[in-house]
Amino acid sequence: MEKNVEETSDVRVQVRERYGRIAAEFGVGASAAAASCCGPADSAASCCGPEQSDNVVQLSQIYEAGDVYQLPTEVTGLSLGCGDPITLAALQPGQTVLDLGAGGGIDCFLAAQRVGQTGRVIGVDMTPAMIEKARANKAKIGADNVEFRLGEIEHMPVADTSVDVIISNCVINLSPDKPQVFREAYRVLRPGGKLAVADMVTQGQLPDEIRDSLNAWIGCVAGAMDINDYVAAIRDAGFEDISYTPVYIDDEMIDEAAKQLGITEASVGEGESMRKRVFSAKVSARKPS
Ligand SMILES: C[S@@+](CC[C@H](N)C(=O)[O-])C[C@H]1O[C@@H](n2cnc3c(N)ncnc32)[C@H](O)[C@@H]1O
Repeated sequence: MEKNVEETSDVRVQVRERYGRIAAEFGVGASAAAASCCGPADSAASCCGPEQSDNVVQLSQIYEAGDVYQLPTEVTGLSLGCGDPITLAALQPGQTVLDLGAGGGIDCFLAAQRVGQTGRVIGVDMTPAMIEKARANKAKIGADNVEFRLGEIEHMPVADTSVDVIISNCVINLSPDKPQVFREAYRVLRPGGKLAVADMVTQGQLPDEIRDSLNAWIGCVAGAMDINDYVAAIRDAGFEDISYTPVYIDDEMIDEAAKQLGITEASVGEGESMRKRVFSAKVSARKPS
């Protein structure tokens, strides 16, 4: 779904504010307010992003990559994703990787271990407080092959054809202009480069009252695109070999998020529960060689 200019900047401002608050409160507040992209706005509850206390359980639902537990809690506690782009990306030593919406950097640090010292990882995020956390985490870990850049994924601060693999975890759904994100992804990837993202998507269109809610947008519901439109936007940007797999994380958390956003079964659609209409998917594609 495309939004007009005013709506677009509204969404960006709200999303930036929300993640700025999460980053600023993390580690100092009681709950760390680590509500994820999929969690309802202004609530510490989340559907994909863990609250600190049950973080280990949540991470095991999201990541197949076992070495996630070796990262410090400053990193894992700020994990706000809804999938595991790392396993999907099948990274190789020496590759250059770009993470769209890197947050506190969890996927960048996992990627850095895989690409090794001959590779490098660039994390882009538009929220200054998130970039600050990510840079502090980099210093703590000593991840020399990772750098974080402040910027929007609709206008990536990255050179043309300079990246082997793009990863992203629960971010593109937050963009008010997803086709532009995929066009930018195509621009920065080298020929033959890979796109490997985890994201919230929908099956079918959600009703207008949900789509029009800014609260639901920043809570990762209204901005989630129908999976067929998502795939079409990737194809329109020039990608090929596009495939996707739905990942059902935790039905109860999805239901709880829906409840807190005021989304009832009736408003989602006839006899449909939210969990069948809004879910995480692993999506991969390749730029032609
Ligand atoms: C749900 S969090 C995910 C963070 C990280 N990928 C993870 O798995 O923990 C979304 C992140 O994307 C960033 N973000 C959202 N929209 C963005 C945009 N249009 N451009 C750049 N960053 C964006 C937010 O600032 C936030 O840090």
